[in-house]
Amino acid sequence: MGKTIIISNRLPVQLQISNGSINAIPSVGGLATGMKSVHSGGESLWIGWSGLTDEETPPELEGKIDQALKENGCAKVKLNANDIDGFYYGFSNRTVWPLFHYFLEYSEFELDFWETYRSVNQKFADAIIEKSEEGDTIWVHDYQLMLVPQMVREKRPDTSIGFFLHIPFPSYEIFRTLPWREEILEGLLGSDLIGFHTYDYERHFLSSVRRLLGLEVSFNEIYMDNRAIKVDSFPMGIDYKKFHDAALAHEQNYNEERSDFQLRLDHHKASAPDTKLILSIDRLDYSKGIAKRLNAFEYFLKKYPQYQEKVRLIILAVPSRSNVPQYQLLKKEIDELVGRINGELSTVNWTPIWYFYRSLPFENLIDLYTSSDIAWLTPLRDGMNLVAKEYIATRTDKTGVLILSEMAGSAYEMNEALLINPNNFEEQANTLQQAINMPKEEQINRNTFLQNRLERYNVEVWANEFMNALNEKRDLGRAFVSE
Ligand code: ADP
Ligand code: G6P
Repeated sequence: MGKTIIISNRLPVQLQISNGSINAIPSVGGLATGMKSVHSGGESLWIGWSGLTDEETPPELEGKIDQALKENGCAKVKLNANDIDGFYYGFSNRTVWPLFHYFLEYSEFELDFWETYRSVNQKFADAIIEKSEEGDTIWVHDYQLMLVPQMVREKRPDTSIGFFLHIPFPSYEIFRTLPWREEILEGLLGSDLIGFHTYDYERHFLSSVRRLLGLEVSFNEIYMDNRAIKVDSFPMGIDYKKFHDAALAHEQNYNEERSDFQLRLDHHKASAPDTKLILSIDRLDYSKGIAKRLNAFEYFLKKYPQYQEKVRLIILAVPSRSNVPQYQLLKKEIDELVGRINGELSTVNWTPIWYFYRSLPFENLIDLYTSSDIAWLTPLRDGMNLVAKEYIATRTDKTGVLILSEMAGSAYEMNEALLINPNNFEEQANTLQQAINMPKEEQINRNTFLQNRLERYNVEVWANEFMNALNEKRDLGRAFVSE
């Protein structure tokens, strides 16, 4: 049995250089936070981008950088500023991300972006080819690396290759608008196993393969070049124990070890004890529906003025992809919306929205999750949305209400949450009212089901199921060859 190599653009840590020393900062985002738990428990090697371009890396620090990554079980792929522009800010986040999230009008079809995407995917593939041996298992992650499976297979057909997409796979009608649609499908089909969060994404992918490549598809297998490629859905879980235990520790050490952040939350709670806290946490991304949520909140406060001074919305928006123009525009839009709504509705005693635009340490995320009466997550499209699962995991007394968009992959597994259409303000206003008034027993009842499911199907089980399916595929292949 060979080793396992994980490969993704984003490593679990991002390196930064300050005053000649190297700092490793935890990465934000579902892929990094989820896979980190899987990686730290095993023997795998994780290959990806360090967060520093060649131009930002003084040659004398190369050794220290490699060492810092090695300490985290990682190795780097070297990328220059031009690569990052065309591959990361370009094709990945100005072409694929908007298209796969159904923002067709934001998607830019630039030949330069595509060419850089292809050449950078080759760099990732070369790093795997160099570090892998016969019998190894290679697990490629996400939309930044869709050509890698085929590139690796060409040189290393003796390895097992799995691919997991962390974002939605769009319907055929959307996907077919991409000028390089066949190349992307062929890249992915270099895998032995392709995984998606939901059955819908899987179906969309199979439909595109059938209609664009004309390949034979039977149930969830695709036949190509005398190979069978398996396609399946594996909804990603969270490290339930990590979040639940952190919340328990937070509760137990409450009097001795409260963070400054928690102290401030408590201070506000004490000054307005019957005010409900409504929380949302997202990367600042148009797919998360933050602007619509703000508008829906204003609509709610005007429709039900009795809740003015009785609720407060906390928006934690984590800076993300800030070199991409759409993200800059969104930042401006949200800054203005928060300013306008607060300006219009605030009173001497009350500010309706608290807005934080920053990344917070893990302990403050726990402060927020445990202090909030309601979590309100309204993505317009989201591959999964792990924040919804994390909120539920931290509710040690099982109270709390989750309002979740139907457009998030996690909604498929979280039926006991209050599911909403983020475009329907009327429904959201009524759902907020329902959440504010939900009896404790009902909250506990709903969250008991949710917590049991999240605890059972945690991120480790998710990773094991994917790896077992990949290994099974390899064993079947071997049996077939020896017959
Ligand atoms: P996405 O992957 O699109 O960013 P998810 O909701 O699936 O959305 O995952 C976001 C992840 O990022 C969660 O695991 C969450 O805990 C983490 N995260 C979000 N905000 C912060 C923050 N301010 N600091 C640290 N981690 C954060
Ligand atoms: C989503 C994507 C990940 C990505 C993360 C953060 O979860 O699926 O691939 O790493 O967002 O985005 P970033 O661009 O900062 O890596």
